[in-house]
Amino acid sequence: MASKINVGVVGCGYWGPNLIRNFASLHDARLRAVCDLNVQRLKHIQDLYPNVEGYTDYSRFLAEGKLDAVVVATSVGLHHPMAKAALEAGKHVLVEKPLARSSAECLDLIDVAQRKGVVLMVGHTFLYSSVVRRIKQIVDAGDIGEIRYISARRLNLGLFQKDINVTWDLAPHDLSIILHIFGEVPHGLNCSGSPTVSARVQDITTMWLGFSKNRSAIVQSSWLDPRKIREMTIVGSRRMIVYDDTAPLEKIRVFDARVESPPHYDTFAEFHYAYHYGDQYIPYVKQEEPLKVECQHFIDCARYNHRPVSDGQQALNLVRILEASSRSLELNGARIDLADFGATSPSQSPAPGSTNGSSNGNGKHASQAESTSGNGHSSKSATAEPPSAAPSPAKRRPRKTAAALRKVRSSALSA
Ligand SMILES: NC(=O)c1ccc[n+]([C@@H]2O[C@H](COP(=O)([O-])OP(=O)(O)OC[C@H]3O[C@@H](n4cnc5c(N)ncnc54)[C@H](O)[C@@H]3O)[C@@H](O)[C@H]2O)c1
Repeated sequence: MASKINVGVVGCGYWGPNLIRNFASLHDARLRAVCDLNVQRLKHIQDLYPNVEGYTDYSRFLAEGKLDAVVVATSVGLHHPMAKAALEAGKHVLVEKPLARSSAECLDLIDVAQRKGVVLMVGHTFLYSSVVRRIKQIVDAGDIGEIRYISARRLNLGLFQKDINVTWDLAPHDLSIILHIFGEVPHGLNCSGSPTVSARVQDITTMWLGFSKNRSAIVQSSWLDPRKIREMTIVGSRRMIVYDDTAPLEKIRVFDARVESPPHYDTFAEFHYAYHYGDQYIPYVKQEEPLKVECQHFIDCARYNHRPVSDGQQALNLVRILEASSRSLELNGARIDLADFGATSPSQSPAPGSTNGSSNGNGKHASQAESTSGNGHSSKSATAEPPSAAPSPAKRRPRKTAAALRKVRSSALSA
């Protein structure tokens, strides 16, 4: 592998420039080419990065860009065809979230990446957040007791999308964090919402997800709120964590608060809940730009053939949840059994924040990504999400044969 990984980014709209900025800043990556149909966007990027080649034609970008790795930051409908073409051309590929429009498309990309022996990674940016890693550490250390439920709210005004509803746009971030904290996929969900502004696309939704041991999560997503809210509450049996991602510094607070029911009582009159209100504390978290950590992790995975923290399987689990949410919306909020969507526990996936001892899913040995920088939300919006935290070491995963992969796929699709 060359001393620097040659990177090209397709999609220079809202989010693409954040990826471009980060790849341009990495010492072991070379931003070689960018691609966008919109020549004004291309010119804007080339004004900022004069040495970068600009293409309006994606096929030429792939064929002539001299690229080792391709980053796809176009609308969701283009993720699968663009990622597939890049993988078939032997490039390592990072695709923005969600990986694709369907689990069938995800499985296809996983299959091609495996066949070509290249890295497929999805931009679940929050898995690279130092704040999310800190929360996971607190939970895993047992500080808050047994998790009872998690609630997440991601609200703002816009940005309205035409091809996906608000769940597909905003919930992937919350879902990736929730799955990471629980360490498993939900067994079922329901989702309700309305197309308030447009006639067809739901712009406000609420999803309930059920997990083992009677644990649950609620995810509220909205493009119709005057304030930008990025809030998650993790309720444990002993303590509770409130994570406010819009807070400039102190993003996590741990509350020594709980409610207990009396162990023994003979009559209902004797029944009293015991409320405990204790102190709260603010854990220290090193500020890093999660997106920079994510980009560095992708470069490390490409260089050393590591399995990414946010690999194809994680992306597939998340897309299956999104598919199930769409089904529930079609059925006016009916409960959907996730087993019907073939979701599998992410427990085999590498845990973010650990050092990497894994493979890229193609049987090659993996290593570890180091986290890097500060805090970089773009001013454009609403959907902008932070990346932070160093990816953790992935566990070594045995190479899946093409036959095994086909088996997984056929059982998932026949379910
Ligand atoms: N990780 C995050 O926090 C985050 C935040 C926002 C968006 N995103 C994701 O980033 C992706 C892009 O979102 P966005 O808001 O930047 O969209 P956008 O519409 O602003 O930008 C997409 C760009 O792709 C270009 N494009 C369209 N068709 C093309 C083609 N055939 N060839 C080349 N270029 C083409 C468009 O001209 C446009 O400039 C989406 O997948 C979205 O989910 C991620």
